[in-house]
Amino acid sequence: MRVLVTGGAGFIGSHLVDALMERGEEVAVLDNLSRGRVENVAKWFGHERFKFMRGDLLHPSDIRLAMDGCEVVFHLAANPEVRLGALDTRVDYEQNVLATYNLLEAVREFGVGVVFASTSTVYGEADVIPTPENYGPLKPISLYGASKLACEALISGYAHMFGLNSVILRLANVVGPRCAHGVIYDFVMKLRSNPNVLEVLGDGTQRKSYLYVDDVVDAFLLASRNLQQDRLQVYNVGSEDQVDVLSIAKIVVDEMGLKDVAFRCAGGLEGRGWVGDVKEMLLDVSKIKKMGWRPRSRSVEAVKLAVREFLRSTQTV
Ligand SMILES: NC(=O)c1ccc[n+]([C@@H]2O[C@H](COP(=O)([O-])OP(=O)(O)OC[C@H]3O[C@@H](n4cnc5c(N)ncnc54)[C@H](O)[C@@H]3O)[C@@H](O)[C@H]2O)c1
Repeated sequence: MRVLVTGGAGFIGSHLVDALMERGEEVAVLDNLSRGRVENVAKWFGHERFKFMRGDLLHPSDIRLAMDGCEVVFHLAANPEVRLGALDTRVDYEQNVLATYNLLEAVREFGVGVVFASTSTVYGEADVIPTPENYGPLKPISLYGASKLACEALISGYAHMFGLNSVILRLANVVGPRCAHGVIYDFVMKLRSNPNVLEVLGDGTQRKSYLYVDDVVDAFLLASRNLQQDRLQVYNVGSEDQVDVLSIAKIVVDEMGLKDVAFRCAGGLEGRGWVGDVKEMLLDVSKIKKMGWRPRSRSVEAVKLAVREFLRSTQTV
């Protein structure tokens, strides 16, 4: 299979690239390196089945060049940060909606299948927990969530008007090596600069599902094998339990071997970490489990593993 991974130099994308390369696929990566790092995929440079293209989804010609000859596109390039939308309202529209529109135009031209990295934030503050895929109405509470929902809607329109085969994966919080954003990264960085006090955004009671990146990669691979089954498939992908932010803070402190750290909860609007932060998230994953996928770890184990890996890989930082 010849595949294109957009955002392949980023956190999740680079793990997907590793798995695809290890399975013997021909892999092209399109990434503008705005957040991704060449080091994440450097080990494949020079490999005959690997092609890296530094390019931007906002430039349609870059997409066409990268997509030529591909059968499947894994579309992960995006702004993944909910918080940015409060500072700059164009980011989610441009990097998520417009970028996805440009991608879909090329997909239409080349007739390839798409697996899309969506998010649990499309559900907003769901009153059904765990939340199933058919929950509605979907009322995202952030521009990030809104932009991902807009991308889903565009994919649905292209699937039905132009016969595109697509799978949408609504991911819970993903953790693991190479992650350069999110709660673990934030806590470790803060504790490295001040090991006595840890500021916790929100009131610390925000409860969410955390998934180890290897499980997410499995879901992408499974999705690509099932692309032909239907024009549009939607699956939740998450662990089957939650962990609260204060517990994550304690895990990070323990794993760093620190003692007597004072936790300062910043409070925030209704205890949220930031404007647009969903306070509780747990996805119903029974649908994707019926396809043979299941998470290998629970939230706490996923977080612990991710903290250990992060500390090990950034020891000199
Ligand atoms: N990390 C999570 O917890 C999580 C949860 C749910 C959904 N997602 C989604 O999964 C995907 C990957 O997230 P991640 O955590 O690996 O983020 P990331 O920032 O590590 O990866 C995104 C990559 O996309 C690239 N990129 C951004 N805009 C681009 C553009 N216009 N053209 C080309 N490349 C561009 C960046 O350089 C980066 O390498 C995103 O779509 C994100 O919304 C992530």
